[in-house]
Amino acid sequence: MLPIIQPVFGPEEEAAVLAVLRSGWVAQGPHVAEFERKVAARAGAKYAVAVTSATTGLHLAFVAAGIGPGDEVIVPSLSFIASTNAVWMVGATPVFADVSSELPVMTPETVRAAWTPKTRAVLAVHQLGVPCDRSALRQLCFERGARLIEDAACALGTLVDGKPVTEAADLAVFSFHPRKVLTMGEGGAVTTDDADVAERLKRLRNHGMTVAADARHGNAVREGFAEPAWNYRLTDIQGAIGSVQMDRLDAILADRQRVWQGYVTRLGAALPQIRLMTPPDNVQWNVQTGCVRIPGGKRDAVLKTLNEQGIGARRGILAAHMEPAWEHLPRGPLPHSEAWAHDSLALPVFHGMTGAQQDEVVTALAAALGQTR
Ligand SMILES: Cc1ncc(COP(=O)(O)O)c(C=O)c1O
Repeated sequence: MLPIIQPVFGPEEEAAVLAVLRSGWVAQGPHVAEFERKVAARAGAKYAVAVTSATTGLHLAFVAAGIGPGDEVIVPSLSFIASTNAVWMVGATPVFADVSSELPVMTPETVRAAWTPKTRAVLAVHQLGVPCDRSALRQLCFERGARLIEDAACALGTLVDGKPVTEAADLAVFSFHPRKVLTMGEGGAVTTDDADVAERLKRLRNHGMTVAADARHGNAVREGFAEPAWNYRLTDIQGAIGSVQMDRLDAILADRQRVWQGYVTRLGAALPQIRLMTPPDNVQWNVQTGCVRIPGGKRDAVLKTLNEQGIGARRGILAAHMEPAWEHLPRGPLPHSEAWAHDSLALPVFHGMTGAQQDEVVTALAAALGQTR
């Protein structure tokens, strides 16, 4: 099976894990702290707080932003379901906004159309690593007194005008699940420039405790509990893997870009009717997902054929309002979200993928569309 993505692990990750196991300290500790420093630098933020996943990170970001029952949060329906679920985790109400026809992200117009007097926050999702127009959304939120939180689960490494997509974000959240550009099995991080917010996020991931576990260890500091909270801590085993992965990030991104360009060339020549997702010129995209759009209502049939032939393609992006979990939610029309949900397809993009493997995918794609290559 050609995988949809594949973690890039080597002897460095193995050595890092072994060192942590032999150290006798496997809970959150110095390796998580080192990983956080690297994430912050890459995200263009002063602070990063590591957590167990982007889902738990989004939960804490909403808590830190003071969002709760009675508040509405504008969120794209077209996103992994966690974007909507995170709003529900704080007891707030998700309100779906549509995306653009060209890119799978909300626009200032679609956000304005979803706005109500109860809107307190906007969750801007940089879907598949492709950025929203965040400066326009920031301006809109600023003018209307709402918080802008960025779901950058997919977006580590994406640059806009040469700068990290989340630079100077109020609160941004990243994922390190294996479908993302780097991974340590599971993991997430929340970034911010505000020292007080970072300190609160650290308490919120650790039962509300006023002293971190490793600082408490072996000395007489007595912990206090400032507020009720959760256990969303990452282990130092994960932190050590993540830290090595961060050092590999440039190589990973370069290889994903190479593979994507391979598809652009091959698909452009063989199957011009397949639309490739093309980010704007000022964006250096991290190619988190190799997304294409299959015309003529054939996506599901094409996907089935590819999977039967050992090609690990997946459906592209889901729309939460088309899933039983969220179909009951009142909403306006979401035509572009529905179009993307019906026709988007994720092709295998993995480290070291060869030209021959890409030929195999494109030939299978052509056959599934009833065309010879
Ligand atoms: C846009 C988006 N938000 C949130 C998540 C949730 O990430 P995690 O699996 O780390 O909780 C994902 C995961 O695919 C995602 O794509």
